[in-house]
Amino acid sequence: MIVVTGATGNIGRPLTLALAEAGEQVTAVSRHAAAVPDGVRHVVADLAEPAGLRPALAGAKSLFLLLSGDLHATGANPADIIGEAAASGVRRVVLLSTLGVVTRPFGTTRVAMRALEDTVRESGLEWAILRPGGFASNALWWAESVRAQQVVAAPFGDVGVPIIDPADIAAVAAACLLDDRHTGGVYELTGPEVITPRQQAEAIAAALGSPVRFHELTRDEAKAAMAQNMPAELADDTLDILGSPSPAELRVSPDVQQVLGRAPHTFADWAARNVAAFR
Ligand SMILES: NC(=O)c1ccc[n+]([C@@H]2O[C@H](COP(=O)([O-])OP(=O)(O)OC[C@H]3O[C@@H](n4cnc5c(N)ncnc54)[C@H](OP(=O)(O)O)[C@@H]3O)[C@@H](O)[C@H]2O)c1
Repeated sequence: MIVVTGATGNIGRPLTLALAEAGEQVTAVSRHAAAVPDGVRHVVADLAEPAGLRPALAGAKSLFLLLSGDLHATGANPADIIGEAAASGVRRVVLLSTLGVVTRPFGTTRVAMRALEDTVRESGLEWAILRPGGFASNALWWAESVRAQQVVAAPFGDVGVPIIDPADIAAVAAACLLDDRHTGGVYELTGPEVITPRQQAEAIAAALGSPVRFHELTRDEAKAAMAQNMPAELADDTLDILGSPSPAELRVSPDVQQVLGRAPHTFADWAARNVAAFR
């Protein structure tokens, strides 16, 4: 049995489905009850209380570990989750980390994530680590204004990064969970091309078949909006990346192609699959 945390999110949902379709027994974990694919067990648990994961982990062979962005800020110790997994007999863990541990290693959440990577490496379990850059699903922040006003409002309209479709992260995670050849793998995950917010708005318009206007926000305006959903330090870090990506953040990684044997999806692919959110 494989335990998937973050199971109802952008990555966890397609990952849970892919594992179930591969014939695996899957336990999906999130804090709120949710519909899951046929045959999948759902367990309500909070990662901030690792001992509460025991019912989910009992009998598991593998764990996909995804922490919500604010977990590091809650005072919880995510390393205890690895301890609980090992004590429950889990043999393999696939950790969702972030490219930021390489490109911007000094922020609070990245220092904590790097420490968790080290815990995973030293756990005695088989492991793989996924380090994605920015997600295509961040465009869902614009869904409401596109629906209501046909507007995408974002900072740094002409500065791009190679954002990744979370479905590709899920596909790589499934490969790492199911295939021994990925043990010890550390994968940097990006999309196939650098794409700017203005070009993302054009791709959403193309998926909708109707115009979408781009409105450029100042950095301060964007920070005020983001700070409602994330710690101010993380909002600043994210804006630094979006406004002035480093060469490492602009690099298109070969790792999705290497693991999956196919190119990563484009943003246009993601927009076409998720167009209902913008209608
Ligand atoms: N967005 C980016 O550009 C980016 C880039 C690099 C890395 N990341 C990382 O990617 C992760 C987000 O992935 P995602 O987009 O798939 O997430 P998401 O769509 O926001 O979904 C989060 C999932 O985690 C569950 N969850 C949240 N807090 C939880 C908790 N305390 N205990 C148990 N379950 C919890 C949620 O369900 P409930 O709410 O019901 O618990 C949901 O299933 C974060 O770790 C983030 O740091 C994101």
